[in-house]
Amino acid sequence: MAIELVESPVRQNGLIVGQATLEDVSAEQSLRPKKLDEYIGQTKIVNNLRIFLKAALRRGEALDHVLLFGPPGLGKTSLAVIIANEIGANLKMVSAPSVEKSGDLAAVLTNLQEGDVLFIDEIHRLRPQIEEILYPAMEDYSLDLMIGEGTAARSIRLELPKFTLVGATTRAGMISAPLRGRFGIVNHLDFYSKKDLEIIIHRSAEILRVEIEGSGAEELAKRSRGTPRIANRLLRRMRDFAEILGDGRITGKLAQRGLDEMEVDRFGLDEVDRKLLLSIIEKFEGGPVGVGTISASISEDRESIEEVIEPYLIQIGFLNRTPRGRIATDAAYKHFGFDPPYAEQLQALAS
Ligand SMILES: Nc1ncnc2c1ncn2[C@@H]1O[C@H](COP(=O)(O)OP(=O)(O)O)[C@@H](O)[C@H]1O
Ligand SMILES: [Mg+2]
Repeated sequence: MAIELVESPVRQNGLIVGQATLEDVSAEQSLRPKKLDEYIGQTKIVNNLRIFLKAALRRGEALDHVLLFGPPGLGKTSLAVIIANEIGANLKMVSAPSVEKSGDLAAVLTNLQEGDVLFIDEIHRLRPQIEEILYPAMEDYSLDLMIGEGTAARSIRLELPKFTLVGATTRAGMISAPLRGRFGIVNHLDFYSKKDLEIIIHRSAEILRVEIEGSGAEELAKRSRGTPRIANRLLRRMRDFAEILGDGRITGKLAQRGLDEMEVDRFGLDEVDRKLLLSIIEKFEGGPVGVGTISASISEDRESIEEVIEPYLIQIGFLNRTPRGRIATDAAYKHFGFDPPYAEQLQALAS
């Protein structure tokens, strides 16, 4: 039984990933906040959205288009769901990689109803020709269609209902300037504080009907990489541990034991985080080292290094990105029990 628990999807790729696993997708339906009031943290974004929503509703207009940046699991999809709920509108969800032809997007757009919210996930992955269809759609609610072929080809312009586009992306640097410029509301989601994660964990525990002590929630929050999806996933695992090894209650001690068992350390770092940092420290003398070299050295693909692993390591101050490559910081050296050598000199050398 215990072995089954440890080999749960959280160990997929040996990595505590923010990306949703199959188990997450079903569990998240019930844990997902549905209203702005249930959305914890990200206070600035929430407060502003509340005002923009009220104003748009009062004027009877569609909310301006919203762009959401942030690593996986921080609550982008949840915000799209909430925006649609608060407006009282339908939500259409599309994942950019599934949009293969211009016609696919045209079909989605022409099927929208007045006031609908269209959510495009991973919007940085739209092909350029397809992205261009969005420009007039976002700006004038219109769609330019080519009819016929060769000399008989002509373009007609269709009017679209007024809608709100919510775009989400993990890669701030990959959004083209013209697309970005057409969003009236642009938000960067931050990693969550320990306090906010604790509140999220208590809320989820209530929905899952599992008893958790304050110290248990604190332990989980500390090791969740600042990410609600990971907090919820670790909570489900700790519920398993509590049911099988304890009396069903997640105490501080049980959480500590369970998380140690799962090799999630006290910064929430897992095997792959450690491998990455240790490779920079031990194989590349602390860096600077290019991300391609790191990728080859630890056999992780470059995209997941840049999107999933690095943002958190940078946020907790274990890694620096410089023009010449990645550098392990003094804090990272100390974490692994090494004498912090020359991180500052390395930084100076690299810039
Ligand atoms: N601000 C929040 N408050 C409460 N729970 C949250 C919040 N943000 C995310 N979650 C939880 O984390 C899960 C993953 O969030 P999601 O919106 O799918 O992230 P993303 O789309 O950015 O990958 C949600 O199902 C929800 O349970
Ligand atoms: Mg999402």
